[in-house]
Amino acid sequence: MLDLSALPPGFIWGAATAAYQIEGAAAEDGRKPSIWDTFSHAPGNVDNGDTGDVACDHYHRWPEDVALMRRLGLDAYRFSVAWPRVLPDGTGAVNAAGLDFYDRLVDALLAEGIRPFATLYHWDLPQALQDAGGWPNRDTALAFADYAAIVAGRLGDRVADWNTVNEPLCVSWIGHLEGRMAPGERDLTRAVHTSHHVLLGHGLVNRAIRANARLAPNVGIVLNLSPIEPGSDRPEDVAAAVRADGHTNRWWLDPVFGRGYPADMVECYGVEPPVRDGDLGIIAAPTEFLGVNYYFRQIVVDDPAGTAPFARQIPVPGSLETAMPWEVYAKGLEDILVSVAGTYRPASILVTENGSAWHDTVEAGGEIQDKERTDYLEGHLDAVRQAVLRGAPVDGYFAWSLLDNFEWAYGYDKRFGLVRVDYDTQARTIKASGHRYAELIAAHKRSREAVI
Ligand code: FCB
Repeated sequence: MLDLSALPPGFIWGAATAAYQIEGAAAEDGRKPSIWDTFSHAPGNVDNGDTGDVACDHYHRWPEDVALMRRLGLDAYRFSVAWPRVLPDGTGAVNAAGLDFYDRLVDALLAEGIRPFATLYHWDLPQALQDAGGWPNRDTALAFADYAAIVAGRLGDRVADWNTVNEPLCVSWIGHLEGRMAPGERDLTRAVHTSHHVLLGHGLVNRAIRANARLAPNVGIVLNLSPIEPGSDRPEDVAAAVRADGHTNRWWLDPVFGRGYPADMVECYGVEPPVRDGDLGIIAAPTEFLGVNYYFRQIVVDDPAGTAPFARQIPVPGSLETAMPWEVYAKGLEDILVSVAGTYRPASILVTENGSAWHDTVEAGGEIQDKERTDYLEGHLDAVRQAVLRGAPVDGYFAWSLLDNFEWAYGYDKRFGLVRVDYDTQARTIKASGHRYAELIAAHKRSREAVI
């Protein structure tokens, strides 16, 4: 029996989504394309040719989705604001209808006692800014801060909790080096430049929120981190693991926590990040929490013929894999939380995403008995509990995801939801994992009442 009473009494129970993955209504009320509209509409980029045009139609069905959150007993909901809805051209004129949408959503959440956690950038850069050079262009970081100031000015009297950027690794390395995500580039120099401008954007947005929000803000960047292990004790593989750790973890954590870019990685890339005077101070300005997304560990071997960081992830024989297919390894969450807490000493950590995709089946009665997802959820919550017992200051957990949704380059086949979405009818059904999550939340709430 999973006993979560060791989690702090104020532990935040949440679920997460992102705008392009759920909203749909891609051309409605003044929204213009983002790089993900462009990318998903170009043949060959997304499985089955899926796009976010309709997605979960959350733009219209949000009241029903807020009601689902209430049924699950969530304390908090992490969603992202679509920059191309608020500023369709990236800069310039504000689209009132776009801001109004988030305004209504925030009011509805608060009416249900659910804390809104707003992410300002979850990958949907306005296409107009891509056309002007995208993230490799420093101006994009400045435009990001201007947009954040507008959103914080409008919502910051009711929203206290903010995520600046979601997963700069994916924006930089997967979007600009591996080309598997929008904008689909494969250029190391542009990827390194992107990484710096995204981090600079985080720092500028941290500042912009504080200058424009009325409530005292609770701000954090969201990093996707993985513990890294060498595939053997050969010195080449051990060195490859150090580089993979640099690429995945240290490249982001070091500058955010005031250590600057790791010198070994600048050497590995052979590209200097385009740092100007003052940038590192802006990036390292204090925030209230660190957001950690965790999905898998990486076991790597040396790959001298590959591209930077010259380390290749290898499969783990005999391991259980999700539909992605990613290895199920809950201990990796405990390990990364404990090691980040020990090395960087964040005041607070929130697990801002964790979850799994499986090939769900709908029973004759309509229910979804997703035992694998339930086991995954319980295993990873137990890992959070272990990390807390080992001293990591983890104050919340957001399941990825509230709903099945558009899983980027994998399209709709990869289902991460605690709630099933039937894409033909848009009907929502809470899966067994969602019911179990609700039970665990309720049990923890009871235990914390006992403490208070
Ligand atoms: C993360 C993304 C999120 C979702 C999960 C499965 O990298 O932040 O949008 O796609 O992976």
